Amino acid sequence: MNDADIPQASASQPLDERVNNRSQRPSSDAFKAFMASNWAQARQQLPERDAVAGHAAARRRAVSLQFKGERLVIPAGPLKVRSNDCDYRFRPHSGFAHLTGLGVDHEPDAVLILEPVAEGTGDDAGNHRATLYFRPLAGRDTEQFYADSRSGEFWVGARPTLAEFKARLGLETADIGGLELAITKNVGAPEIGGISIRLVRKVDENIDALVDTARYNTAKDPENLDLGVLDALDDKLTEALSELRLLKDEWEIGQLKTAVAATVQGFTEVVKALPRALTHHRGERVVEGAFFARAREEGNELGYDTIAAAGNNATVLHWTRNTGRINAGELLLLDAGVEADSLYTADITRTLPANGTFTGVQRKVYEAVLDAADAGFAAAQPGTRFRDIHTAATTVLAERLAEWGLLPVSVQEAISAEGQQHRRWMPHGTSHHLGLDVHDCAQAKRELYLDGVLTAGMVFTIEPGLYFKNEDLAIPEEYRGIGVRIEDDILMTAEGPVNLSAALPRKADDVESWMAGIYQEADNQPA
Ligand code: GLY
Ligand code: MN
Ligand code: MN
Repeated sequence: MNDADIPQASASQPLDERVNNRSQRPSSDAFKAFMASNWAQARQQLPERDAVAGHAAARRRAVSLQFKGERLVIPAGPLKVRSNDCDYRFRPHSGFAHLTGLGVDHEPDAVLILEPVAEGTGDDAGNHRATLYFRPLAGRDTEQFYADSRSGEFWVGARPTLAEFKARLGLETADIGGLELAITKNVGAPEIGGISIRLVRKVDENIDALVDTARYNTAKDPENLDLGVLDALDDKLTEALSELRLLKDEWEIGQLKTAVAATVQGFTEVVKALPRALTHHRGERVVEGAFFARAREEGNELGYDTIAAAGNNATVLHWTRNTGRINAGELLLLDAGVEADSLYTADITRTLPANGTFTGVQRKVYEAVLDAADAGFAAAQPGTRFRDIHTAATTVLAERLAEWGLLPVSVQEAISAEGQQHRRWMPHGTSHHLGLDVHDCAQAKRELYLDGVLTAGMVFTIEPGLYFKNEDLAIPEEYRGIGVRIEDDILMTAEGPVNLSAALPRKADDVESWMAGIYQEADNQPA
């Protein structure tokens, strides 16, 4: 066909519409009327209130008290394109999830607005009234029902109505059509009766632009508007939401326990899959897949990409390619976490002998890491500082490295601020907060995080490791290609730390007998 033969309509068709060229949907009125008619009534009964609703209300109140008189805008974020017209599975921003109590699937493009009201007259006698703006379920008599592949019920299943979310969450809901006005109305300098906004930025570009435009249009001197000052206002809100998550409430602790329990099952599945993994050209992928199946069956997803790293790959801290073989005689470092439907995630690492038995040198390295973890555990007490965990764990590692003749300086020198030579073999932190994000509370101030005091209700990891690379000429050959990390999820209580992941064996002997037990039961073991 030459150019002259190309129908005009095709040449002028906008690119955005061409995605539909693979099929032709009739557009006649008769077709539309037929598609929109004769469907059973949608569900009528309202759902029960979610168990999280009261907790989420208390979190919103805590935010309200910090930002009296200001409009707070907390977006969930949009769907993100993976390729062409295929989106990634939706996952809301964690700050939004925390303040609404919404988890899996909910809700693309939604925005929570805390609207300032007279002091003490808001929700729960706070200073704001909360409204959740979202795209509610469209009726079966609409075109959206059958024609919208991103949100139509025919394509993605029924989504919530305004009344359903209101009943579940215990907060006001409104159609997303009213969002622009809700964000922009009366914006302006407080001294002239305007309302100032704070926004959780970089979650939804459209909302960022809307807020920027509103600020620009209402500024006294728009040409000299200092965006840096406004960004700093916004950052304070993001920081406050992050710090609010440093202490987990009872419901969150329950969710973290659920995530850990599913993760423990996932590790058991991996041990069962090891005999096959050892025979496969990409054994690490066999491991990754075995864990992922459990994550999807029991929870929403993975909290982060699984690290399934055998042999020297275990010395790559975030080895998520998982393309390697697993050879008998090697160690397998598995760092994996199930994200529950509520979006709380576990983050656990075990280092397993691929064929069920540690070699002498593997055991020696493993036990050093375990001793470091135990020292971290002992240092983690209510009232001690977060940073003390790392100091305790790495001091043990430096001592072992010195004992083995690997440390080029004294232990004292290595653990001094200027030394740190042991970091060649343990270059990461020992702990991080854990919750909705695997690295939770990441925008909290340093004085509340690294320098913060450990307090009942905090959940964090303890995860020392030693990583001896094949390429490391500073160590004897026998150590090379050994990477060990042991990572547990810890709940701080008034009585001290509780290891939430203690159901997975940690001691070398216990790891071996746990694996042997699984193989005995399955009558199958790695060759
Ligand atoms: N899995 C990432 C981490 O342990 O921090
Ligand atoms: Mn971790
Ligand atoms: Mn981890």
